[in-house]
Amino acid sequence: MKPEILSVAPLYPPCMERLERELTVHRLFDAPDPQALLADVAPRVRGIQATGFASVPAAMIEALPKLEIVSVFGVGYDGVDIAAARRRNVVVTNTPDVLNDCVADLALGLVIATSRRLCAGDRFVRAGKWLAGPMPLASRVSGKRLGILGLGRIGRTIAKRASGFDMTIAYHSRQPVHGVPFRYCATPVELAGSSDFLVVITPGGASTKHLVNEAVIRALGPAGILINVARGSVVDEQALLRCLEEGALGGAGLDVFEDEPHVPEALFAMDNVVLLPHVGSATHETRGAMGDLAVDNLLAHFGGRQVLTPVP
Ligand code: NAP
Ligand code: 8YV
Repeated sequence: MKPEILSVAPLYPPCMERLERELTVHRLFDAPDPQALLADVAPRVRGIQATGFASVPAAMIEALPKLEIVSVFGVGYDGVDIAAARRRNVVVTNTPDVLNDCVADLALGLVIATSRRLCAGDRFVRAGKWLAGPMPLASRVSGKRLGILGLGRIGRTIAKRASGFDMTIAYHSRQPVHGVPFRYCATPVELAGSSDFLVVITPGGASTKHLVNEAVIRALGPAGILINVARGSVVDEQALLRCLEEGALGGAGLDVFEDEPHVPEALFAMDNVVLLPHVGSATHETRGAMGDLAVDNLLAHFGGRQVLTPVP
């Protein structure tokens, strides 16, 4: 008999098909009555397939007496109550590395889009404003100072791309990273104060909640640009709005928000922000690689082998 698992959010469709061929999958995300489904399958479920931000709370983990593994389709696992999983000896896996390139590409895309005002330029042409005269000048990207908050797998991939733009790179994380040629800043405020762009790429969760607070945003300053491709929770969104409204921050490129998919409407009217719907890893190639890894972790576990990518 195939092991039974609960899917709390859909995988990339070809990977979902593979998962459904290999295992018995109960689709909580499109169940007409999720509570009834959960009550029905709870005694038999041995695994959960989740995503980077779909919630796997303690109550769900505790309601599944046979639960052995949570496989996250995403590198961030802030949606999973890790303490509850540990208490039950439940293995948690994620999908690191396979998405570094796409998330880094998108971060650089936001750097260029905000600084060179790509989306504003597109709106300018479509509105017929070019007929009345040229668009105001933008701000140069190459050679500028890039601050990376979180020099991990994706942060280092962003640094590699930024080096190609001759940018001066500095970073902050809790520990300095050995063997990198970039300047370490002891605090996020120090990093922001010496950056033209601040790219946020730490994990989410309680330990980084509002790491980018009003002081950090003000240190970036009226010509500075904040890029967030990490989690909405890392940036104090109310402080960000205040600083943008006052002109205390030059602009922002945001892929993530505090209450997704709800985006503060005040941002919609601002020409100096670029807003994306959490698409850092959203390419066919990368979502396929992430989905395959998420399925491989489940199959390894149920096949009695070591999982490939357990979370630390
Ligand atoms: P990673 O390799 O674990 O790197 C995380 C970095 O953040 C490390 O340098 C870590 O260094 C630093 N960090 C952690 N806590 C910190 C804190 N409190 N203060 C300062 N720095 C801190 O992770 P990754 O694979 O690069 O992924 C990073 C995150 O990107 C994910 O967790 C996810 O939330 C986000 N993400 C978003 C998208 C998207 O679609 N927008 C896609 C993929 C990932 P120290 O431990 O030394 O502090
Ligand atoms: C995905 C992410 O959008 O990997 C992460 O942490 O946030 C993203 O890659 C998500 O996990 C898939 O739904």
